[in-house]
Amino acid sequence: MRLLAVETSCDDSAVAILDETGTALAELVSTQMVHEKHGGVVPEIASRLHMTVLPRLIREVLEKSGTSLDSIDVFAATAGPGLTGSLLVGLSWTKAAAFALEKPFLGINHLSAHLHIHHSSPVEFPAVALLVSGGHTMIFHMLSWRECFLLGTTRDDAAGEAFDKTAKLMGLGYPGGRAIDELAESGNPDAIALPSPLGNKRNPEFSFSGLKTAVRLIWEANDIPAEDLSASFRKTVSNLLVSKTMYQADTLHAKSVLVAGGVSANSLLRANFEEECGKRGIAVFLPPIKHTMDNAVMVGRAALSALEADPLANSPASCNTFPRWHGEKLSPLSC
Ligand code: KG4
Ligand code: ZN
Repeated sequence: MRLLAVETSCDDSAVAILDETGTALAELVSTQMVHEKHGGVVPEIASRLHMTVLPRLIREVLEKSGTSLDSIDVFAATAGPGLTGSLLVGLSWTKAAAFALEKPFLGINHLSAHLHIHHSSPVEFPAVALLVSGGHTMIFHMLSWRECFLLGTTRDDAAGEAFDKTAKLMGLGYPGGRAIDELAESGNPDAIALPSPLGNKRNPEFSFSGLKTAVRLIWEANDIPAEDLSASFRKTVSNLLVSKTMYQADTLHAKSVLVAGGVSANSLLRANFEEECGKRGIAVFLPPIKHTMDNAVMVGRAALSALEADPLANSPASCNTFPRWHGEKLSPLSC
């Protein structure tokens, strides 16, 4: 079985071809660097670039895997949440290819796809999952891959957004999560006392906008080494993410903890999860660094999960994009 998966929800164009086990026979990601100079993603530019790049990526992935387009058995693309113009490019291309070749098409939820990067791993349920990216900070209770319930989300900024805004303030460019992570390695994490908004670990909700403002005020009023501020900020964010996730894991008797999304590349966050899960004997699943960010392998694995539940799954031709997800139960199939 050959499945072609496409992801274009934001500023990464990604394509992958998977077999029935979820193994990627070939995968490519093209990141749009042009947004750096604007200090954030410009939606209009992002959608136009997907249009330019996607056909070439698909051709290259087919070549790399030695697959022809007409031997693809199933097509899948992210339908949302994300930027409408960007999503429309990947969704329309993939739907049209499936229609022309008379093959099934699956519209995939991007959030569920992030968690499904671990679908090929030996995850035991119940599990607690933390999805932490530039746009989302969410804790889920998972009874199985397709019984996934939202426990809490952010009331304002996402954790990645807080990293990016802090980095911008310190002149570290965009997106700046990785730059803060690297600087933090040589800083003192206890140098600066920062607030931990909604810090009670029993509360599964997050709030990062107050922390971001506190960092700005401290940075502007004092002559502090960027390394120390980075280290203090990274520790504060990691403590919030890890303590709230582990509290839910303990309370819900989780056998596994899953972490996914761009911020799951953070080295302190990864070390803290390893340590806390290790102490409790809970299995922890962290994506390989290349699969922390947006990619098409996760979309393909979410599609395989939907097919596991219903081998005849097929989204309607009217399957549309959606900018935000507001549900309580998260499913891989969006329509
Ligand atoms: O999942 P992703 O690629 O895109 C979204 O769906 O948002 O996540 C991107 C986010 C950015 O905010 C970026 O700064 C953050 O992930 N990020 C990191 C690190 N690497 C990427 N944040 C903290 N530490 C890192 N090492
Ligand atoms: Zn994402």
